[in-house]
Amino acid sequence: SARQQTTSTGKKISPTLFGLFFEDINYAADGGLYAEMIQNRSFEYSPADRREWHSLTSWEYITPVFSYGSLNVETNKPIHPNNPHYAVLTIEHVGQPGVGENSKIPENKGVPGVGIKNRGYDHMVVKAGEKYAFSLFACQLSATPVALTVSLQDPRGKILSESKLTVNSKDWNKYTATLTASERSDSTSLVILGTTQGKVGIDIVSLFPENTFKNRQNGLRADLAQLLADMKPAFIRFPGGCLAHGDGLGNMYRWKNTIGPIEQRVEQRNIWGYHQTAGLGYYEYFQFCEDIGAKPLPVLPAAVSCQNSGGTWRIGGTGQKAIPMDEMKDYIQEVLDLIEWANGSVSSTWGAKRAAAGHPKPFNLEFVGIGNEDKITPEFEERFKLIYDAVKAKHPEITVIGTVGPFPDGEDFTKGWKYANNLTVPMVDEHYYQQPDWFVRNQYRYDAYDRKQSHVYLGEYASWGNKLKNAISEAIYMTALERNGDVVDMASYAPLLAKKNHTQWKTDMIFFDNEKVCLTPNYYVQKLFTANQGDYYYDKIVSKNSKDSTLAASCVKDSKTGDIILKLVNGGTASQSMKIDLSAFKKLASQAEQVVIAGSAEAENTLENPQAIAPVQSKIKVSKSFQYNAPAMSLTVIRIKTQ
Ligand code: AHR
Repeated sequence: SARQQTTSTGKKISPTLFGLFFEDINYAADGGLYAEMIQNRSFEYSPADRREWHSLTSWEYITPVFSYGSLNVETNKPIHPNNPHYAVLTIEHVGQPGVGENSKIPENKGVPGVGIKNRGYDHMVVKAGEKYAFSLFACQLSATPVALTVSLQDPRGKILSESKLTVNSKDWNKYTATLTASERSDSTSLVILGTTQGKVGIDIVSLFPENTFKNRQNGLRADLAQLLADMKPAFIRFPGGCLAHGDGLGNMYRWKNTIGPIEQRVEQRNIWGYHQTAGLGYYEYFQFCEDIGAKPLPVLPAAVSCQNSGGTWRIGGTGQKAIPMDEMKDYIQEVLDLIEWANGSVSSTWGAKRAAAGHPKPFNLEFVGIGNEDKITPEFEERFKLIYDAVKAKHPEITVIGTVGPFPDGEDFTKGWKYANNLTVPMVDEHYYQQPDWFVRNQYRYDAYDRKQSHVYLGEYASWGNKLKNAISEAIYMTALERNGDVVDMASYAPLLAKKNHTQWKTDMIFFDNEKVCLTPNYYVQKLFTANQGDYYYDKIVSKNSKDSTLAASCVKDSKTGDIILKLVNGGTASQSMKIDLSAFKKLASQAEQVVIAGSAEAENTLENPQAIAPVQSKIKVSKSFQYNAPAMSLTVIRIKTQ
């Protein structure tokens, strides 16, 4: 068993055990982590995304002060073929604001013109004094230039910030302005008004808060990104989940479509029933990983679509299941090109593209996932093998992670393991979503895993719920993942982010709206494990009632800092004593940092009451041997310095 392998000097375990799973599900990317505030900025929404959606979804045509003209969507002169639709505003007449008695008529007030108004993702929140980076692409389609007024407006039409620009080129050009909000509004719209007669093409209308995470261009929402950074994850897996392989060939996530200037990226339907702009694309994912010191873990399709179904299980699937065998050479090249793009020198074809985008240094890619929960069919097997062999031959330095399907006891799971072991795939991705008691009952699962077989990436797991009892069952399980950190190399809770009123998955780690966040107990548990990882595991440090499976503990050492980290979990209804023996360690500090999460089993946080469960930090006296009284339904992490 794992325990028997432990020596008094500790057992080497994976230094990258706990990381994050990011998928654009629940509006996690567009409308979420990606800080773009304009919804449907490029007029590319369509009924393929959602039956009732179209190019002008989230836009409103407006003609204040008795102005008139027209709004159309055209495709004959796009900025780029990948971004075919754009709006055309024709301004025929610009009204005159009323004077005297006439100014009392509401329609006579405000800035006259012909224009469009965007309400963002459930409206936009702007804050007094904060700056917003506005940009759009426009081209003059009439003989004369067209003047535009851009403003942020509250729901009553009050102008919170305004800027003017003139479109005076027949070519598509980018125009920018900084808009500073005069006051707070949580229901803001962006208004673009043509204020002189003429015709103008408009595309990629964008508004970002000026302070994105690390002030990156095309960046991430600072508050959400910071919460993820605070977790200190060892890695980030992206872009999914099912999103990675889509539900048909036309819906696969193809990484090359998601790099380069945003106006040239290929947008597409999101498998979770909305739209992907690809504004948060591979460049941004890799940059974010680098910014927070996490290893990038891209998951690429194994050339088959979701559950190998060809989209038959979702409306809008293309019916094509897998990349035809005679196109596999090109697809394999696409996978190899990703490695060159991430790691190649600036003189390589793809390394040069990374450098041109602003990152000459390599991104140090070490892992590539191939496939996600795929059915283990002959189509999958022959394609996976081709990709795997090619990556292994050209890039032996890259660890390929295979997939073994969705459920621990499913048919594909068993077939997937057998297949991966035959190919000696170094690591495979297991997924499971189960009830909390399943995690408690199955905490010994990996003790029995054969260490000579493929190692495990537990890429998606969660107990069904965001109550404290769910998080504590996961904490029990995570101590077992640490104990088995010699065979479980990586693990990530899923899904990560969920926007209020836009969730497709009910149990998630962080809930948010346009302004607030709700950190679940599951987040706090994950954070305590990710931020307190070790690379050596020590057995027999904590004595507890071994018959009580609701009690669990682990002890790891982080050899970079020398710190000893104890995790003590009590999933029961009464406090329990645990005895800690640290005599194996030298030079222990007498005082340590302690963080406790505890409360009632049913407690949960909400956006309205986000603090029902919160970690409590304090100091604790420690010695070579001491007792710890673990509160009912709790996780305690004690971090002890050794010098
Ligand atoms: O995490 C949500 C979904 O669950 C993922 O997209 C998929 O891989 C799994 O079935």
